[in-house]
Amino acid sequence: MPERARILQVGTLGDETDAWLQANHDVLRLWQQDGGLDAVAGRLPGITAVVTSVRHGCNAELIGRLPDLRAICSWGVGFETIDVAAAHARGIGVSNTPEVLDDCVADLAWALLLAAARRTSVADRYVKSGQWRSIGAFPLSTRVSRKRLGILGLGRIGEAIARRGSGFQMEIRYHNRRERAGVPYGYAGSLVELARWADFLVVACEGGPATRHLVSAEVIDALGPEGILVNIARGSVIDQAAMVRALAEGRLGGAGLDVLDGEPKVPPEFLDMDRITLTPHVGSATHETRRDMVQLVLDNLASFLAGRGLLTPIAA
Ligand code: 8YV
Repeated sequence: MPERARILQVGTLGDETDAWLQANHDVLRLWQQDGGLDAVAGRLPGITAVVTSVRHGCNAELIGRLPDLRAICSWGVGFETIDVAAAHARGIGVSNTPEVLDDCVADLAWALLLAAARRTSVADRYVKSGQWRSIGAFPLSTRVSRKRLGILGLGRIGEAIARRGSGFQMEIRYHNRRERAGVPYGYAGSLVELARWADFLVVACEGGPATRHLVSAEVIDALGPEGILVNIARGSVIDQAAMVRALAEGRLGGAGLDVLDGEPKVPPEFLDMDRITLTPHVGSATHETRRDMVQLVLDNLASFLAGRGLLTPIAA
């Protein structure tokens, strides 16, 4: 029997995947070590691959403790919790799970956009609490079709959101660090300009320090009292305190958020704000997509171990 590959798994990827990894490789489960890395220091040399996720991460300290590390295979498209620069500096490849989740995350962006505009969550409560019968017709809401859709971050997920917008006959523009060639959507040179133009602003960019509070008080004011902000990316991209103030003072029309800064903690003022529609970071959380994400982690690992390199490496 060939020698089994030595792998360090940072956190669980679900019982089934954990069991599969353990059955097929020599796995050190870091989350089950009470004494942390120090307790298993002698077992770290010889480990060639780390399996992790955007939730569990892989920092420079961990990378530094693994002298034979060659690959980090991570679950999730985001990688702000992985020190990719530290890995690349040592020639260690890092893979994430792009593409397989684009459709589900885009679908959820639309669920939130429609819910925020048409107030479906509030309307659901209205019916269930008997107010339809006792008070009567529900207040009017905001039309979505044929409006202006602004996208912050026209990557794969942003494009999937935009394609859906075309079905709603929307005019679509985007803001990225740089204009993209060959896309059928207008480019806004600044985020304030995009927000001023848009009826709906959807955040679909990367997380991490480079995009922190990109959606600032100024951007929120530019979106304005009729504007709706949707975030399926990372909570850190929005200045949350500025957003709450704007919503409370009627300077922002509404928000649909799948992600929060400091999640899963929810600011108490959100709880009785009908203008905010919330979901608990479930963009990719369907049976089908989560299965595909796990499979892509395992496929990356298998390809690396077979000497064929990572399938979906993060570019240096
Ligand atoms: C996950 C994500 O739902 O892939 C990502 O970067 O944010 C999502 O797929 C999330 O990591 C769950 O915590």
